Amino acid sequence: MKQKFVIEGLAGKKNLNGEIKVNGAKNAVLPLLAAAILLDRPVEFSNVPKIEDVARMLELLKRLGAEFEWTGERILKVDGNQVSNNVLDNDNAKRIRASILLAGPLLARFGKVSFPHPGGCVIGKRPIDLFIEGFEKMGAKVSEVKDKYEITAPKGLVGTEFFFRVSSVTGTETLIMAAVGAKGKTILKNAALEPEVVCLAEFLNSRGAKISGFGTSEIVIEGGHSLGSLNNKTFPVIPDRIEAGSFLILGALAADNLKITNCQPAHLDSLIEALRFSGVAVEVGNDWLAVKNNGKIANEMRRAVNIKTREYPGFPTDLQAPMAVFLTQVTGESSIHETIFEGRLNYTADLEKMGADIKMWDSHRALVKGPTLLKGKELDGPDIRAGLAYILAAIIAEGESVINNAYFIDRGYERIEERLQKIGVKIKRVDCEVC
Ligand code: EPU
Repeated sequence: MKQKFVIEGLAGKKNLNGEIKVNGAKNAVLPLLAAAILLDRPVEFSNVPKIEDVARMLELLKRLGAEFEWTGERILKVDGNQVSNNVLDNDNAKRIRASILLAGPLLARFGKVSFPHPGGCVIGKRPIDLFIEGFEKMGAKVSEVKDKYEITAPKGLVGTEFFFRVSSVTGTETLIMAAVGAKGKTILKNAALEPEVVCLAEFLNSRGAKISGFGTSEIVIEGGHSLGSLNNKTFPVIPDRIEAGSFLILGALAADNLKITNCQPAHLDSLIEALRFSGVAVEVGNDWLAVKNNGKIANEMRRAVNIKTREYPGFPTDLQAPMAVFLTQVTGESSIHETIFEGRLNYTADLEKMGADIKMWDSHRALVKGPTLLKGKELDGPDIRAGLAYILAAIIAEGESVINNAYFIDRGYERIEERLQKIGVKIKRVDCEVC
């Protein structure tokens, strides 16, 4: 049964209150689940978000032969050592882009992997040329048979030096996993710096891998160490910085007092800086963020701010759509420059339908004029992050909004409506025959 969200907007009032907890990071747990294939014993992860993308990844792993079990509240035990198959099934792999993460550990372990071009969000071209080139540099042979890539390395992968022409998060993660199982040393240059890459490297090192330099643009991996027997401690998934950032934006837009707990503020410097520049008094603690006494701050007190998405630690592309909603409420002209993906401003047409004043310059750049009072509308959630931006827009709008395709939001956010209800949002999930 399809589902939608129905939201009664606040018509610009800032009266949400309370605490909202951040769950584990989608983009950290997906590579961790893939990495379980490299281990020779089961592993337990904590702080695992119960989201659709995790369910899809577990389905893929199960079809490969892995076993898993929820052993506690958001604690997941995975036995990747049981994996016996190295062919990713088309349907599931095409549903999530992150399926490509499995290629690295499968190739490292079996010397062979077969997968379709991965699917995912409609946010622009999602090539995998860097993955393929990386595997080839490690000695693998790549062929395309029908609609599948067949990659083989019968004598095993060998360490190499690889420069990423374009910094890629899952590219870096995949080649780290391949390199852990390769013979000798691999040096990844212009590697991604994202906290999710660091989380993966720390996990692999905790199980016996020899990875250094993660968190910098040059990562060195000494391959060929067996993984698993050193340590069987439960490994915690880092908090989701995109979820935390979206809640912070929500606080600035619609809360009087909102505390965002269980997060890592250090992962959100670029957003905090942009909000502060605009006039939002963001408070930062060790593992919390807060917006306080915000209810009486008028939009005229918030100034425009220009946003340019960048690789970490720059402004995250995954927060660009939620931030655009914020920009519709500040005074003046703000520009948005999306440098990572080219289809990631399409959602602006829907915000315009709600009354936002947004002019697209080209597929990468837009100008937002504010403040504008948004009006409730019925919208189709287009992808995970724009879907959440629509929820934010609906919360601040006047009147009722309907956000169809709840599935897209469920892909990245666990039971979002229950968590938002607790801070005062009038949101409900509704089954629908067609939506
Ligand atoms: N790129 C290439 N060739 C490749 C791979 C990437 O040209 O082989 C380009 C992409 O087209 C893009 C740029 O490199 O222009 C950066 O893309 P990247 O590879 O870093 O993206 P990704 O690894 O596919 C991850 C997140 C995305 C997030 C991006 C950017 C996961 C599972 N996904 O994607 O998250 O937007 O990094 O930070 O980690 C989301 O969570 O909604 C989401 C889309």
